[in-house]
Amino acid sequence: MPVIRFVREGRDVDCYPGENLRDVALREGIQLYGLKGQLGNCGGCGQCVTCFVSVVDEGDSDALTARTGVEETRLRRRPQDWRLACQALVERSLLILTRPQVRLPNADARLTAARQAALPEGPTAWPAVAVADQDEDAEAATADEED
Ligand code: FES
Repeated sequence: MPVIRFVREGRDVDCYPGENLRDVALREGIQLYGLKGQLGNCGGCGQCVTCFVSVVDEGDSDALTARTGVEETRLRRRPQDWRLACQALVERSLLILTRPQVRLPNADARLTAARQAALPEGPTAWPAVAVADQDEDAEAATADEED
C-alpha cells in the first residue's frame, strides 16, 4: 500500500490507495505551496496552479493516476514530471519533491539517499467502519420509539 516519501521534508507518510495527494499532504502538515499559494489558492480545483510537485524518478509513472485534462492544459510549459497535487490520486508508493520550483539544498545527496532507502510498507486496508455501533444505535432508537 502506498507510502509517499516527501524528499524535501524528509518524511514518509502512509496513505490509502486512491487518496488525493494534496489532501494527504495537507493532513500531514506538508507545505505544498510557495508564497503565492499560501496567500491564496483554489482549494484543490486545479485552477490556481500553485500546488506543483515533482515525481522523483518519473519512470515510476503509474504511482499516480494519469494527468488530468486540467494538468495537460495548465502544465503545458512545465517539466513532464511535474504534477498538480490536487489532481493526482496516489496508486502506489513514490517519491515526491514539493515546490520543485524552489531550490533543494544539497539536492544530489538528498535525492540519492531518498532513492536508496527502501520504502516501508504502508497500511494494508482502509480503516474498518464500526457497523456494530450503528446497529446498537438503531436498536436503541427503536426501543425508545416503542416506549
Ligand atoms: S490547489 Fe489550485 S491548482 Fe491545485
